Amino acid sequence: MREIKTAETLQDLSILAAEEFICCAADAVGRNGRFSVALAGGNTPGRLYSLLADLSYSEQVKWDKVHFFWGDERCVPPSDPKSNFKMVEDALLRHITIPLSNVHRIQGEKPPLMAAQSYENELKAFFGAQLPVFDLVLLGLGQDGHTASLFPGSQVFSETGRWAAAVENAPLVDRVTLTLPVLNNAREVIFLVSGSEKAKMVKEILSDPPGTGKYPAGRVNPIYGRVLWLVDGSALAGTSRPA
Ligand code: 6PG
Repeated sequence: MREIKTAETLQDLSILAAEEFICCAADAVGRNGRFSVALAGGNTPGRLYSLLADLSYSEQVKWDKVHFFWGDERCVPPSDPKSNFKMVEDALLRHITIPLSNVHRIQGEKPPLMAAQSYENELKAFFGAQLPVFDLVLLGLGQDGHTASLFPGSQVFSETGRWAAAVENAPLVDRVTLTLPVLNNAREVIFLVSGSEKAKMVKEILSDPPGTGKYPAGRVNPIYGRVLWLVDGSALAGTSRPA
């Protein structure tokens, strides 16, 4: 099931996302005693992570029950400014009390294939031998329709055997990403999209039926769950507004 919600600004959108995160976390902890979430990288979610660090939000979350994973990572050391882990560490992890063992970062300092294998081992250790069921996956949208590090036309986009894969020769730097089967096995996926430069791609993707089309972001449509598109006014321009 696909749902679309909008808010005028990125700040308002991030507030919506923070409320969804808190609600999802409470449901998951109530249901099975823990909350597994794969975090998005890039710039857009930074505001959300800072909000979650704010006492008015962070006090609503049982952080010791939260398990952080990443949807993808650049193959750089965790201290590198390009690291998605570092972005979350600076915006959120430094400001909350969470057991180190609950933070399952992708070891970007390793060569891509080794980092992907290590991450897959970590996923298996947490979820068991079955395809992971994340309680929540946060994703962004690239102007070319990529999400996580699943790029249009890439071999990794059509990977079905692995849960985590290396993306070599990706834009900017080599990467490791969760694969589409894992994203589509989540209970909930939230896309956080902001900015007029995304409007053309948002319009193309949302005009296709959920889970279809040629763009990786458009193919995300959880089999048993829902995908919520949180899109700000500038990124939704040209698309019919949700009711
Ligand atoms: C990354 C992300 C990537 C990102 C989109 C949108 O590592 O860069 O995983 O998929 O979400 O490229 O990035 P912005 O939020 O910076 O526009």
